[in-house]
Amino acid sequence: MANKSKILVTGGCGYIGSHTIVELLQSDYEVVSLDNGLNSSPDVLDGIEAITGVRVVNVDVDLSQTEAALEALRAHGPFTGIIHFAALKSVGDSVHQPLRYFQNNIGATLTTMALMEAMDIPYLIFSSSCTVYGRPEKLPVTEESPIRPAESPYGATKQTGEILYDQFFNTQPGRNGISLRYFNPAGAHPSALIGEASTNQATNLVPVITETAIGLRSELAVFGNDYPTRDGSCIRDYIHVTDLAKAHVLAMDHLVQHKNQKPYEVFNLGIGEGVTVLEAIAAFEKSTGENVNFTISARRPGDIDAIYANNKKITEQLGWKPTEDIQSIMRSAWAWEQVRRK
Ligand code: NAD
Ligand code: UFG
Repeated sequence: MANKSKILVTGGCGYIGSHTIVELLQSDYEVVSLDNGLNSSPDVLDGIEAITGVRVVNVDVDLSQTEAALEALRAHGPFTGIIHFAALKSVGDSVHQPLRYFQNNIGATLTTMALMEAMDIPYLIFSSSCTVYGRPEKLPVTEESPIRPAESPYGATKQTGEILYDQFFNTQPGRNGISLRYFNPAGAHPSALIGEASTNQATNLVPVITETAIGLRSELAVFGNDYPTRDGSCIRDYIHVTDLAKAHVLAMDHLVQHKNQKPYEVFNLGIGEGVTVLEAIAAFEKSTGENVNFTISARRPGDIDAIYANNKKITEQLGWKPTEDIQSIMRSAWAWEQVRRK
């Protein structure tokens, strides 16, 4: 039997990394995780094992430390590809600690390139974000929409990552990469064995909804109802984390099977529908039967009124199609919240 392709998943103990590992293992890839626990616990490996029957090895090293990471990984190769999730992700924290974000996120990104050179790894997928579009003028955003000034140091790390990979893959024959620009990942694995479990306090809408419903927070503040949208609250494109994870497998297959037209490409990864904050709360209440105590509060600085994806490129070129919606996002997030607080 041919050896399976082995993928290095950086940030593999995190929210999206863990769900992607499950999809990779179920698609016949082998996986090694690299994660230093900056925002996660290795306990997630138990959940992955319960779902897939595979115990994944996690290499506990700081990816922004190039020499240490190289040293720690040498024994685990050869790798066919890297899926690079490891980063700090709080927009708000990044405003208070820009240098920490630059060192960690850009440092880790540089290390992935060093690994590709030193260990002769041909393919990479990068977790980018719709934040690279800043405050878009036209909706939905396509991959051709202009990249606008970053709204935060976090956003700057994603823009920088894309610029560096573009140059790297276009000057390195035989090496190919894809950046996936995520919209708003949410929800949990249908088994409720893994889900979002940040060690830092949650600030994203869906975990704040579930934490409020379960009583960990007394109320949810809706940040503004005076935006120029259909009900005054902000519009986002919520994508189920399992749909998101599956796109990484398709993207890696695409590179491995030499289907890419260019050495480096970017794809939007959203379902292409906008949902307001108030609609998201209503979807949670309807799909779970639980109440969410919310109040309308002031706008959150830096929020944009609306963003959602044109996902034509990824559906046509990678054959990706979302199968979940806001209701299943809410149901799965609620199931996970209940399991994790037991
Ligand atoms: P997460 O915090 O759950 O996972 C990131 C993982 O990387 C964590 O387990 C953390 O411990 C690890 N990590 C961070 N820095 C590291 C380092 N220097 N060395 C080793 N490990 C390190 O976040 P997530 O939601 O799973 O996000 C994954 C990726 O997707 C990130 O790059 C994030 O910026 C990007 N992204 C996330 C969202 C979102 O809303 N969740 C949206 C757009 C893009
Ligand atoms: N919101 C609330 N109350 C809360 C939390 C969020 O009203 O307690 C609202 C926000 O104002 C926003 C929407 O819910 O309108 C979604 O907010 P999130 O914090 O869940 O997500 P963002 O769209 O702000 O941020 C996401 C990712 C970032 C990424 C950004 C790009 O989390 O990583 O999209 O636009 F940079």
